[in-house]
Amino acid sequence: MRILVCGGAGYIGSHACTVLAGRGHDLLVADNFANSSPRVLERLRRIIGAPVFFQQADLRVRADLDALFDGPRFDAVVHFAALKAVGDSCRRPLDYFDNNIAGTIHLLQAMQAAGVKRLVFSSSATVYGDPDSVPVREDAALRTTNPYGRTKLVMEQLIGDLCESDPSFHAANLRYFNPVGAHPSGLIGEDPGGVPDNLMPYVSQVAVGRRERLQVFGGDWPTVDGTGVRDYLHVMDLARAHADAIDYLAREDRSLTVNLGTGRGVSVLELVRAFAKASGREIPYEIVGRRAGDVAQVYADPSLAQRLLGWRAELDVEAMCRDAWRWQSMNPDGYGSAAVDEAAAGEVASQHEWDALAAG
Ligand code: NAD
Ligand code: UD1
Repeated sequence: MRILVCGGAGYIGSHACTVLAGRGHDLLVADNFANSSPRVLERLRRIIGAPVFFQQADLRVRADLDALFDGPRFDAVVHFAALKAVGDSCRRPLDYFDNNIAGTIHLLQAMQAAGVKRLVFSSSATVYGDPDSVPVREDAALRTTNPYGRTKLVMEQLIGDLCESDPSFHAANLRYFNPVGAHPSGLIGEDPGGVPDNLMPYVSQVAVGRRERLQVFGGDWPTVDGTGVRDYLHVMDLARAHADAIDYLAREDRSLTVNLGTGRGVSVLELVRAFAKASGREIPYEIVGRRAGDVAQVYADPSLAQRLLGWRAELDVEAMCRDAWRWQSMNPDGYGSAAVDEAAAGEVASQHEWDALAAG
């Protein structure tokens, strides 16, 4: 299939590209690099073994969307493009509403105008807020606690309304739990700008010596060891789910909403110990007060994804830590670490070449 990958230069999108290309799909990556590096495209070329077709585009700009859809028709769109930092969304909510919600509306309008009827959408466990019970099923109450989460919920709802209005339009709404880890090559991975908000990138940066010690937010939660419990999921398992969702939409001609997680809760200290073992590095930490808005434990019931997509997570916490560490140690400064690129300069194909390929 010909697939448009919006936000494909980002953390999860880039990993999904490796799996989608591996299944023989032709990809056009669109991104505005709001939270990613052009270097990703070069790294992807090395992993995939072929040029990555790329078009710089901002989903808020209609002319950019017109340019994207001005070619042979896409069979599906995978939509990763969003701003995703919870704290940042509290400081500038309008930017999040504009980028995430308005960007999605423009994308859906462009799809509708072009007659593209399949969408895979990146939703999040954030739509469950503080769930009443775990494991969380898809029919749990939806109640988010911050502007970022509200954008995800609104996007889910407007995609749902579009599916209702047009019976031939189908969406796979994928609610990710906590994606971590990296491609086994160590060439692509998570590269947060500034101080990482999330646990795994923070731990990795402590291990590599970029940060002194981890602050563990709360040691008095009602959990196995008093620290927060989450459902960490290897990004390559998550990437595979997107290819499975595309197959589902093509095969079943119907929409779905599924959780993507392992179904297993892991505490902060369990993750720290696993990372120390995988990296052979000590991870100094101190237990501090709880982070505002945090919850004790959240993990998925992923059985619906298994039933509908035939998907289940296969990689364990050891593999997540091993691959996160390989990425971090090969790229101590993320995509700013030039040594890996200097080894192989390559090319990124243009939209023009994509059109030529797609045309025949
Ligand atoms: P990311 O920031 O690494 O990737 C998002 C990509 O979208 C970036 O490359 C960014 O430059 C691009 N982008 C943002 N706004 C854009 C716009 N207006 N036009 C074009 N490109 C734009 O984030 P990620 O971790 O890869 O997350 C991908 C998706 O998954 C997001 O929608 C996010 O909300 C969702 N999600 C992420 C997590 C997580 O923990 N990483 C968890 C649940 C859901
Ligand atoms: C975060 C997002 C959430 C998103 C989810 C999955 C926030 C507030 N929420 O939540 O919207 O859906 O990721 O990507 O960012 N921790 C520490 N020290 C740290 C960082 C984290 O102890 O420096 C702890 C947290 O308290 C938590 C666990 O580690 O118990 C995981 O935290 P994090 O990686 O931020 O994920 P979520 O809290 O699930």
